Amino acid sequence: MNLKTISWKNNSIRIIDQTKLPGKLVFLKIRSLSLLWRAIKELKVRGAPALGGVAGLGVYLGIKDFKGDDKKAFLRKLKEVSDYLGSSRPTARNLFWGIERMQSVAVNNRHSPVPEIKKLLFAQAQKIIEEDRQACRRIGFYAARFFHDGDAVLTICNAGILATIDYGTALGAIYRAKEDGKRLKVYACETRPLLQGARLTTWELRHQGVDVTLICDNMAASLMREGKVKKVITGADRIAANGDTANKIGTLGLAVLANYHKIPFYVAAPASTFDLKIKNGRQIPIEQRDAKEVTSLFFKQPITAKGVKVYNPAFDVTPHELITAIITDQGVVEPPYSKNIRKIICK
Ligand code: MRU
Repeated sequence: MNLKTISWKNNSIRIIDQTKLPGKLVFLKIRSLSLLWRAIKELKVRGAPALGGVAGLGVYLGIKDFKGDDKKAFLRKLKEVSDYLGSSRPTARNLFWGIERMQSVAVNNRHSPVPEIKKLLFAQAQKIIEEDRQACRRIGFYAARFFHDGDAVLTICNAGILATIDYGTALGAIYRAKEDGKRLKVYACETRPLLQGARLTTWELRHQGVDVTLICDNMAASLMREGKVKKVITGADRIAANGDTANKIGTLGLAVLANYHKIPFYVAAPASTFDLKIKNGRQIPIEQRDAKEVTSLFFKQPITAKGVKVYNPAFDVTPHELITAIITDQGVVEPPYSKNIRKIICK
């Protein structure tokens, strides 16, 4: 499968519409910022690194038709576009990282003519995308020492090709193991309520020829108890300076279970997911989503009585004590996290 989740084509952003998977592989052309905002909100494009990639192209999409050479007005427009894009989803650090990278190109080149700044912004957006491709492959390289032939690995949500540009973080580690000739068995949690594991991870792994078995989220404990899981690996949406990690709701439960059963629990993420300005996980903004995602099966069929109260946080935070290692594109970070994150990610 030679898929690119996000690209720039015919003056618009091309994404895979992930809400249509696994039924249909549909590509969407996004020509306006408001369409992109909705695509992010509705998880047509999703996964922290993918949001970083789409942020770069999104900022360019928002300013490319600016007319004239009024620098102040241009920078005002850029800020407006950035704030709007940033209001789509709050948790993934990569979205804001992508936007900030674009903003700093404009600020550093504020003395150049507007058409020149636009060109530089386009180049920066392409660079962000290329860097993600490289970063995921480096994560795979650093992850290699943790995975052995015959290992059974549990994962949640989708931290693969579809969550990045074309390789994946947690699933990138699995693809790398496969390239190295190791046969891994993957258990994918279905990932209620929006079923990224069932819909996306199993689809993608099967296409890549990886042995994958789907489980309901509430089966993880018994699987571990039976000794069927040797390692857990997940992606991340935001990692605080002390290593506390936000990821898809349900990740914390897996980390607690892994700790109880003495199973290594790895997080795989690029440096762009780290938020070193925040000390710990309590400061990570957690997205609350529409109750309908829980009360009806993928918005289609009601599965609860009408009007039932719902709590629907999209992410939870795993405290660093439960994480065996964080595998990044800059190297493997092991405890003590506060010290080693500063050493490896800030270098
Ligand atoms: O709500 P989603 O589908 O965007 O959540 C995605 C996740 O939680 C992923 O695990 C995370 O972004 C890492 S993707 C490499």
